[in-house]
Amino acid sequence: MDDDVAKTWADARNKIDRLRDGALVKIEALGKSDDLEKTRIEFLGKKSYIMGLIKLLGRLSAEERPEAGAKLNAIRTEIEVAIETKKKWLQHVEQDQMLQNENFDISLPSRLLGKGHFHPVAEVMDDLIEIFVELGFMVEEGPEVETDEFNFKMLNFPDDHPARDMQDTFYIGNGTRLMRTHTSPVQIHAMKKYQPPMSVIAPGRVYRCDSDVTHSPVFHQLEGFYIDKNVNFGHLKGTLELFVRHLYGDGVEVRFRPSFFPFTEPSAEIDISCVLCHGGGCRVCKETGWLEILGAGMIDPNVLSVMDINPEKWTGFAFGLGIERIAMLKYGIDDIRLLYENNIGFLQQF
Ligand code: FA5
Repeated sequence: MDDDVAKTWADARNKIDRLRDGALVKIEALGKSDDLEKTRIEFLGKKSYIMGLIKLLGRLSAEERPEAGAKLNAIRTEIEVAIETKKKWLQHVEQDQMLQNENFDISLPSRLLGKGHFHPVAEVMDDLIEIFVELGFMVEEGPEVETDEFNFKMLNFPDDHPARDMQDTFYIGNGTRLMRTHTSPVQIHAMKKYQPPMSVIAPGRVYRCDSDVTHSPVFHQLEGFYIDKNVNFGHLKGTLELFVRHLYGDGVEVRFRPSFFPFTEPSAEIDISCVLCHGGGCRVCKETGWLEILGAGMIDPNVLSVMDINPEKWTGFAFGLGIERIAMLKYGIDDIRLLYENNIGFLQQF
């Protein structure tokens, strides 16, 4: 060890405690992160006094080196810790100041995220299912791709009978299969599966080659039927009036019109007074003041016999509702096609 080194260390020994105290006081007093970095460079930077002494360590005598090394490392660590602690503190202070200067109210609730909801057709369908399930009906589903047998033949539509033209059909391939034109084939599937008494509803999608303000090529129906001993037309009327009142209240009028379906006898179509024009006439009700919402009737004895159900013993009623028509009347929609355009502005209204 040369004399200069020994002298420098002897000199430093008296100074470094004071230097450390000075550094800690200075760090404590700082108010800005930028000044903190300058202070770090001043006390611990490459050219600082302390780092200069650390570089000298290797040239100290073997006796002095351990004590000097421990002392210098302790001072360096103390200053580093003080700088780190101060740094975190200043970050908090600066963030607080920034928030105070920013002119916003952090107590305001955050902006609401857009919430989705069910499509009006699904809403009406669920609502109707609930009404009928409460009345004791069970839910059955059938295939959308059907055979002529289920969609027509077993429902008492004779081959080449003009009644088939009532429902413009989408045939598949060579014509043995078709997209079901109504939910009535589910009556046949259910009669194959269960013995009477039975009360069933069958919600689902149906298809017809049909399109205008009240007709869509793909739409939804809800079939309902009840087979038991002594079921009569009064039961049918009571059930349908009950559900119309539930949906629309007492403000609408209900009208039963004689009609024809091959699978019911007698048959009726049920209209309700148009809630869009209140009976005055509009394009939805085709200026009549009424809109047809469903077909219904007493199940034809021929259909029961084909399904091995004795029509002398059992009778039944059936009905088929158009869900879109009901949604149009419920929400005041004057064109069925609006329900399928997926226009967000339109759908957000419900
Ligand atoms: C039938 O489909 C019969 N299966 C209903 C039935 C069931 C009668 C059980 C007797 C016993 P209809 O073709 O009338 O009937 O259709 C029933 C309802 O579906 C109509 O009242 C109407 O509300 C709706 N509807 C018919 N065609 C369309 C269409 N293209 N777009 C939207 N709704 C329609």
